[in-house]
Amino acid sequence: MEHFRNPHNIGEMKDADSFGEVGNPVCGDLMKIYIKVKEENGKEIIEDISFQTFGCAAAIATSSMVTELAKGKTLDEALEITRADVAKNLDGLPPIKMHCSNLAADGLHDAIKKYREKKK
Ligand code: FES
Repeated sequence: MEHFRNPHNIGEMKDADSFGEVGNPVCGDLMKIYIKVKEENGKEIIEDISFQTFGCAAAIATSSMVTELAKGKTLDEALEITRADVAKNLDGLPPIKMHCSNLAADGLHDAIKKYREKKK
């Protein structure tokens, strides 16, 4: 699994437009997702995205996956990336690890929500 061995888009983004933060109630691990948004023809597009996690290997792999899925998408499209999509793209995680994979999608949604609130 590429995303386990070599996670993409890892690290803090200093000039992010917004970031989402979620904690995992099961294990107490934390996840941050940073996004940079550009507006183009009235669309809001995720120009850049990165993540930081203090979670386990499964959380890292799924974050890497989510950031790859979300990059270049509009905010509306990115909101449609669900927990299930993430697991599917990783060829199904063992069920015990499902709670880890939920962090990334939740973090992404949180980042988008905050971005929109800030713009209001
Ligand atoms: Fe905490 Fe996976 S065990 S995120």
